[in-house]
Amino acid sequence: MRLVKIILPKAWIQDRKRDYYYRKAQENGYRSRAAYKLLQALTKYHFIKRGDVVVDLGAAPGSWIQVAKRIVGRKGFVLGIDLKAIVSFPQEYVRITIDDMNDSEIVQRIFECLPREADVVISDVAPNISGVWDVDQARQIDLATISLKISLEILRPSGNFFVKVFEGDMLNGFITEVRKHFGFVKIVKPKASRPKSSELFILGTNFRFINEKNESP
Ligand SMILES: C[S@@+](CC[C@H](N)C(=O)[O-])C[C@H]1O[C@@H](n2cnc3c(N)ncnc32)[C@H](O)[C@@H]1O
Repeated sequence: MRLVKIILPKAWIQDRKRDYYYRKAQENGYRSRAAYKLLQALTKYHFIKRGDVVVDLGAAPGSWIQVAKRIVGRKGFVLGIDLKAIVSFPQEYVRITIDDMNDSEIVQRIFECLPREADVVISDVAPNISGVWDVDQARQIDLATISLKISLEILRPSGNFFVKVFEGDMLNGFITEVRKHFGFVKIVKPKASRPKSSELFILGTNFRFINEKNESP
């Protein structure tokens, strides 16, 4: 019998992979395949711990909330914020609010929901994609910058920050900004993030609270 080597197109392999995380999310009861991006980053960097207070910006439909709540447990707290409604969770330590991160009173409203300052801010917030590359990258960096600003107000000293960005011209400037405020900064590309997508995540740990809140830069 003759053996024929079949070379599979890259796009086909990538689509299969996407389906793999989509199916896995469905099998494991996650609301979105995005759960695996956070899970994979956490497996490597452990930036959410039991008992933590976590704020999830751009949280709908809620798979990052599912991941975070499982880790923080009853002694922790998770607040999910999105423009869209999120189906609620039965646990009393999970709270959801419909809000716009651009709102001038967002920090105050977040504090009204939290039991104390946040240990971790995670942000998967994303704009509606226009298809125009420059526009989408700029919007994503804008949202990441708003996520950073909110984090600087609500994080405890040594807290952690994990945010989605797109590769592009504006990324280095954003990373420089994150470096000013966090002791350790890392660019993360989880396997569940499609290889052909320009999506990346920036992790900042060990928030330099004293410098930011009590001293001028
Ligand atoms: C990729 S989804 C988040 C998925 C989520 N991490 C999960 O695992 O289910 C991005 C979310 O950002 C939200 N979003 C975009 N702009 C926002 C804004 N200005 N304020 C709040 N949420 C926003 C969108 O409504 C959308 O639900």
